[in-house]
Amino acid sequence: MKNKIENYLKEINETSIDNFPNKIDGIEQFRIKFLGKKGVIGELFECFKTVPNEEKREIGQLLNQLKTAAQSKIEEFKNFVEEQTDENNCLDLTMPTDFSEIGSRHVLSVIQNEIIDIFARIGFTVAEAPEIEDDWHIFSALNFPPEHPARDMQDTFFIEKNGQHGDAALRTHTSSVQVRVMEKNTPPIRIIAPGRVFRNEAISARAHCIFHQVEALYIDKKVSFADLKQTLLYFAKEMFGEETQIRLRPSYFPFTGPSAEMDISCNICGGKGCNICKHTGWLEILGCGMVDPNVLEANGIDSKQYSGFALGMGVERMAMLKYQIRDLRLYFENDLRFLKQFESIL
Ligand code: DAH
Repeated sequence: MKNKIENYLKEINETSIDNFPNKIDGIEQFRIKFLGKKGVIGELFECFKTVPNEEKREIGQLLNQLKTAAQSKIEEFKNFVEEQTDENNCLDLTMPTDFSEIGSRHVLSVIQNEIIDIFARIGFTVAEAPEIEDDWHIFSALNFPPEHPARDMQDTFFIEKNGQHGDAALRTHTSSVQVRVMEKNTPPIRIIAPGRVFRNEAISARAHCIFHQVEALYIDKKVSFADLKQTLLYFAKEMFGEETQIRLRPSYFPFTGPSAEMDISCNICGGKGCNICKHTGWLEILGCGMVDPNVLEANGIDSKQYSGFALGMGVERMAMLKYQIRDLRLYFENDLRFLKQFESIL
């Protein structure tokens, strides 16, 4: 083995760039021979495993020397070629360049920005808060009773600290931003909060452990359910078209009362009934309601003076309905064939 290495070392040292009729090809062949995947040096390193222990030190050093020699030789060849190219002024400025492709916004960002713009036009400003939250901001301050199933580890990612479950968790909804905003501001409050949320779900076409929501909160004197309804109608028409109708179904959320879910008339079939709306003519869009007085009080706002409404929606769902995307996983896989379809919707 020692002999073999020494012969290769000699060969490397004696190889000159002039040995190659085509310099670029020659350098590449040389590289493949010595440093390629199945090259000489790789093979020698394989054989090295069988070298008796007492010889390992010497042979190991020789092998490393061989590798460095091959690398420096290639470096030397490349520098030579580069210099020559410059000297002969071979750079052809008239050659067409390789255009690097310009990326485009992700469809979720586009939809999120669209929602923000719609609310900004009626005076809502963007609020942000941490993704890693505590029990108070995700649940307690929002009037979740202690036994509420959302507090279960099966729904929420709790964060371990020193091997122990504390009360830190990834936020399960953007409603936590409501709490952050209420504790720092006094009414009137009019915010919109876009952001990532996390739930402990198995990933499938219809569920994902990461998704995006947009929350809106409006608190002032005399805010009524009529204000909520008008805001919802305005939003639905701006987002899905002037002809869109809405309907509100009674629902339950711990932090609002009365609470509702809003449906829009199906924008695919115009309400006649199709696969997308499961032949009902309606599509579920968001949850909403009047802020529960307990929530206002828990966050230092006098519920006798002030009232408010809140609403929350899923961005993935909005994009699904707008562009008929059938599988949630597509949003996160970064497959260019998917992403490129939205290039023009900036
Ligand atoms: N936080 C709720 C969820 O994740 C959505 C929601 C419902 C937000 C009603 C609201 C609301 O602000 O009023 O399912």
